[in-house]
Amino acid sequence: MKSKAAMIHGLNQEWSVEEIDIQAPKKNEVIVHWRAAGMCHSDEHLVTGDMVPPQEYWEFMGLKDFFPMIGGHEGAGVVVEVGPDVTDLAVGDHVSASFVPSCGRCRYCSTGRQNLCDLGSQTFIGGMITDGTHRHFQKNGEPVTLMAKLGTFSEYACVATNSLIKIDKDIPLEAAALVSCGVATGWGSATARAQTKPGDTVVVVGVGGIGMNAVQGAKMAGAKRIIAIDPVEFKREKAMEFGATHTFSSMAEALPAVMEMTWGQLADRVIMTPGVLHGEMMGEGMSLAGKGSTVVVTAISPMTSTTASINLFELAMWQKEVKGTIFGSLNPRADIPALLDMYRSGTLKLDELITKRYPLDQINEGYRAMRDGENIRGVIVNG
Ligand SMILES: NC(=O)c1ccc[n+]([C@@H]2O[C@H](COP(=O)([O-])OP(=O)(O)OC[C@H]3O[C@@H](n4cnc5c(N)ncnc54)[C@H](O)[C@@H]3O)[C@@H](O)[C@H]2O)c1
Ligand SMILES: [Zn+2]
Ligand SMILES: [Zn+2]
Repeated sequence: MKSKAAMIHGLNQEWSVEEIDIQAPKKNEVIVHWRAAGMCHSDEHLVTGDMVPPQEYWEFMGLKDFFPMIGGHEGAGVVVEVGPDVTDLAVGDHVSASFVPSCGRCRYCSTGRQNLCDLGSQTFIGGMITDGTHRHFQKNGEPVTLMAKLGTFSEYACVATNSLIKIDKDIPLEAAALVSCGVATGWGSATARAQTKPGDTVVVVGVGGIGMNAVQGAKMAGAKRIIAIDPVEFKREKAMEFGATHTFSSMAEALPAVMEMTWGQLADRVIMTPGVLHGEMMGEGMSLAGKGSTVVVTAISPMTSTTASINLFELAMWQKEVKGTIFGSLNPRADIPALLDMYRSGTLKLDELITKRYPLDQINEGYRAMRDGENIRGVIVNG
C-alpha cells in the first residue's frame, strides 16, 4: 500500500514528507493507521545527531546508512490489516505505540521490567523486529527504517505486535498517543523511578512534554513542594496548572530558594528532563538534591558524550543516588492502559498537554515551535 511519511535523509536536515510503499504484514505484524503522533524531543535528537550512533556502529550492524528514517515514536491508531498468526489484535482495534517493545519472555520482561526488554536492542538496526527484513520502501525502491520500529510520523506503518498495546475504543487517540511516550516517561520518572513519597520536595528541571508529566506524577505521589525549572515563562505558568508549587527560570536561581524553603535540607528528588542534558548540567542538578536524595536522569544526552561534572564527595557523604530511566521505568503493557484509565476517571490531565495540532505536511513548523518553546506538546493528526 502507499502512504505519506515524514522522514529525514541526514543530520540537521528538515523532515521530508514523501510517498512510501508498504508491503503486506508478515507473521506477528500488523498495519496501523497512525491517527495521532506526539512530537517528542527524542525525534529531534535524530535530526541533531544526539541519538545517532557513530558510523562504525551502524556499519558493524550491517547498515548501509543510518538514514533515511521515518520519524515518530509517540502515537496511537487503528489496526487496518493483520498478518499471519496474529491472535491478539484484529482489524478495527485501537492501539497505542510502545517505543520499547515487550516480548513477555526475556529476563527483563519476566521480572516486571518490560521497559528493558531485550528486543529494545534492535531499535537502531534496520528492518522489522520480527525477522530483520524491510516492509517500508522509498519511491526509488530503497528500504527506509522506522524510528523505534514505529514510524508514527507516517499515515500507515507495518509494526510488530510486540510494539503495540491494545487500548479501549472510548479513549481519544490523541490522548493515547501522548501516554505512549511523554506522559508515561515523565509520570514514571517521578513515581516508579524517583519513588516520590508524600511530603517530599521534588525538583523537575525542564517542564516540556516529559517534565510536565513528572510534575503530575510528583503531585499524585503526594509531594509537598514541586519546584518546576524552565527558562520559558509559558512552560512555568503551565507547570503551576499541572501541580507545581514554585517555579524558577534556572537551576542557579532555584538553589537559594530551595535551600530556604526546605530549611537547608534541599530536595528529596530531582528529575532531569531538559530538552538536551549536557554533562555540566548534572552538577547543578545534583546540588539541588539533599541528603539521602534521588536524582533521576530522564533526558537524552549526546550519545557519545562521557563526562558529567558532579561532586563525588557529596554523592558519597550525603548518600545521594543517581538513576537513569527509560520509559519512566514503567511496564508498557500494564501501565499504558492504567494511565489511560486515570485519564478516564479525571485524575490524569492529558488534553491540557496539547498546545497545537498539525497535519503531517506541517511537521517542520511543529518542530520549529517545539525548539522555540511554544508547545508543551504538538500533535500530528491524520484523518
Ligand atoms: N528516558 C526516556 O525514556 C525518554 C523518553 C522520552 C523523551 N526523553 C527525553 O527527555 C527530554 C525531554 O523531552 P521533551 O519531549 O519533554 O522535550 P521538550 O523540548 O518538550 O521540553 C524540554 C524543556 O526543557 C527546557 N529546558 C531547556 N534547557 C533547560 C535548562 N537548562 N534548565 C531547565 N529547563 C531547560 C525547555 O525550555 C523545554 O521546556 C529529551 O531529552 C527527550 O529526548 C527521554
Ligand atoms: Zn518520546
Ligand atoms: Zn522482553
